[in-house]
Amino acid sequence: MKEEIYSKNTAKSVAPANLENYEKAASSFTWKQARSYVDWFNGGKINAAYNAVDRHTQTWRKNKVALYWEDEAGNDKKFTFEELSLLSNKVANILKDFGVERGDRVFLFLPRIPELYFSFLGILKIGAIAGTLFSAFQEQALADRLENSGAKVLITTKELKPRVDAIRKKLPDLVHVLVVDDEYFTKSLERASDTLRIAHMDPDDYAFMLYTSGTTGKPKGVVHSHRAILQEHMTAYWVLDLRDDDTYWCTADPGWVTGIAYEILGSWSNGVAAIVYAGRFNPDRWYKLLDKYNVTVWYTAPTAIRMLMAPGNELVKKHNLSHLRHLCSVGEPLNPEAIKWGIKVFGLAFHDTWWQTETGAICIANYPCMDIKIGSMGKPIPGLTAAIVDDEGHVVGTNQEGNIALKPKWPSLMRTIWRRPIKYKSYFMNGWYITGDRGMVDKDGYFWFIGRADDVIKTSGERVGPFEVESALVEHPSVVEAGVIGKPDPMRGEIIKAFVVLEASQKSKVKSQKFADALKEELAMYVKKHLAGHAYPREIEFIDKLPKTRSGKIMRRILKAKEMGLPVGDTSTLEEF
Ligand code: WTA
Repeated sequence: MKEEIYSKNTAKSVAPANLENYEKAASSFTWKQARSYVDWFNGGKINAAYNAVDRHTQTWRKNKVALYWEDEAGNDKKFTFEELSLLSNKVANILKDFGVERGDRVFLFLPRIPELYFSFLGILKIGAIAGTLFSAFQEQALADRLENSGAKVLITTKELKPRVDAIRKKLPDLVHVLVVDDEYFTKSLERASDTLRIAHMDPDDYAFMLYTSGTTGKPKGVVHSHRAILQEHMTAYWVLDLRDDDTYWCTADPGWVTGIAYEILGSWSNGVAAIVYAGRFNPDRWYKLLDKYNVTVWYTAPTAIRMLMAPGNELVKKHNLSHLRHLCSVGEPLNPEAIKWGIKVFGLAFHDTWWQTETGAICIANYPCMDIKIGSMGKPIPGLTAAIVDDEGHVVGTNQEGNIALKPKWPSLMRTIWRRPIKYKSYFMNGWYITGDRGMVDKDGYFWFIGRADDVIKTSGERVGPFEVESALVEHPSVVEAGVIGKPDPMRGEIIKAFVVLEASQKSKVKSQKFADALKEELAMYVKKHLAGHAYPREIEFIDKLPKTRSGKIMRRILKAKEMGLPVGDTSTLEEF
């Protein structure tokens, strides 16, 4: 394979990168050094929210704008670090009045409105555990997460609240639902005191949790501690290369770990001004935002980049994007075409970053100070060892495929899987954390992504568990069984495809193409309505029988191989198919 290099010297010359010499840092940095980049309370205590926002109010950044917010209709607002500090204190005091204590779970079911950001900070400030939920979630997805977490308080909007009301019976632990756009909450916020004694936390105390999907079972609650701020801060500094004069845009939603680590914690901890756009994706609007706010650093995802490529380059030229200086990407493989397109239209290469909900912060990345091998994810961050290991946890040689593994511990490694300690343990083998991704490392130490080792689906960068979608489908009266896979898609990386075994009376009816099409549409809508707006099957195929092991487990890998016209591999454990 011919290697294509994007030389670091091609990059726009600005002041030297925050990380000037990768090799030097990689060989000498220890996490002890990171301690001086964040603020501590007496006795080794810490609070991630204090580090993100409040500490800046003791400095010249007090009146610096931290958040430029804009919605789809063009309404905009801005908040200084001090304003975010005071508003989050108010939310903290409201929660305290409701009896929220350290360790209680407070969940946020909100669109990307300012309340989401300062409420998140407020929750951490009193030592409670914040949980975020995509506003696209429907009843089933909400019930699974709120039930398992035992959330005591939920913060939402008038528009989203009915979905919570519908499942309230299933949530005995949920004592209060706060609605940010009703009169009660707005009055409470007005009246609440804006002074607060921020909780001094042990670094290992839990700060936030996120539900994410695996191959089997319901989504699991990945729990992160206050200590994670160390790595969130350092990676925002080294990899995103954030500076005080930057305007930074991370396009992720805080329902996803990227939106927490690099839109709230690590980015603000570096004192950067961030923008949040609360609207849907739209290429022209995105360029307008980059232009209007003079965005300098932009962190986005491959599907978004491909969707920007689609309308062609004329659209880009209509906007002044000359202030962009550094581009990064996360969430799914960053294809070489996307990087090359970025070089062509922005004069800059997207820098790929690899990490997971469980790793809590960027782990493998391309740095401004390092040449990019186009198609590679880059190298492990200073202070972290990554390797490729075989299925027994032994390191394999260069250029050999295996499991991408990381050496524990690093500061932002998840602390537990909520109420599932055995699941947590299952991530570790022979002294390594096994990521579930397959990859390779070359002779120069660059990591290359190959694919998932399991059936987890990545669609538009979102992680979807096939089991959740299968469970939603079989709730429909026409469906007996369903097998769900990720089908490669040039735009979205993968799309969700469902193979469905119909109930006997429906089987003959679907011989009519019209009936079959209508039923497929109905099933897709059914999942959309019950599970989540983004986790529904875009393709459905009716099938007589699903391939299963003799013990009855659906063999998704066989469905996938058949879909892609590949050999089905070892079928010796299969029941007849
Ligand atoms: C995939 C949180 C290729 C991978 C950020 C990983 C990537 C999963 C990359 C985590 C990348 C993430 N290149 N694949 N740069 N970054 N992934 O927890 O399979 O939603 O295990 O992401 O996304 O998904 P999560």
